Amino acid sequence: MYERIQETASWLKERMTTSPKTAIILGTGLGQLASEITDSYEFPYSEIPNFPVSTVEGHAGKLIFGKLGGKDIMAMEGRFHFYEGYNMKEVTFPERVMYELGIETLFVSNASGGMNPDFKIGDLMIITDHINLFPEHPLRGKNFPTGPRFPDMHEAYNHKLIELADEIGKEKGIRLMHGVYMGVQGPTFETPAEYRMYHHMGADAVGMSTVPEVIVACHCGIKVFGISIITDLGGFDVPVEVSHEEVQKAANEAQPKMTEIMREMIRRS
Ligand code: HPA
Repeated sequence: MYERIQETASWLKERMTTSPKTAIILGTGLGQLASEITDSYEFPYSEIPNFPVSTVEGHAGKLIFGKLGGKDIMAMEGRFHFYEGYNMKEVTFPERVMYELGIETLFVSNASGGMNPDFKIGDLMIITDHINLFPEHPLRGKNFPTGPRFPDMHEAYNHKLIELADEIGKEKGIRLMHGVYMGVQGPTFETPAEYRMYHHMGADAVGMSTVPEVIVACHCGIKVFGISIITDLGGFDVPVEVSHEEVQKAANEAQPKMTEIMREMIRRS
């Protein structure tokens, strides 16, 4: 595994003309930020040695390098989900490569179902913490030398970055909620009883990604900032229907707010 990570990182380094310290993962329906990256050059996942290829509609599947907020960045348009059939080592392969490329801060985004009664569709939720309900752990197996066998997770989501986001949200009049993200395997959306259970367990939003990537980033000592777009509301009192199209549409509509927050955070950090 380590050789494959090195091979991929070397392949990219040979072709990179910039030195990003910041990476961004763009979630479902959140590709717009990519179009704001200037001086960009990109690599489709299919061309990158050892990279898995994304299979979900709404995920283009490429690595984009360039500038955002005046800084060198790299962005993943399209991520790898456990429900697609990838194992956790594949799901988190890009974060291992990011570490080898010198990434120090990771911005993650996703679409999620809101369970907190204060939330509205289209809200941005800053992820303050997560609950890992995936059936396989990304760090299972021989420990990687990037971090300890039993990594601390008391500040998986960097507090200083959360403060900075709140400051920018206030300045720009963008409503930012805070909450705990529940990571589940999918691909089914939740039954009303499941939404109810996850809410009782302490989560404010639920989705099918992010947690594995954040765990591996933490294990590599990469600082993390995460935003969930609330694309639907878990109907645990009155059951409501959820569809992928609806999730994509809501994410699309909310993404300019997310782009603005992230761009400004990168500019100031
Ligand atoms: N549940 C799980 N994943 C999701 C949801 C949801 O309600 N919305 C967007 N991704």
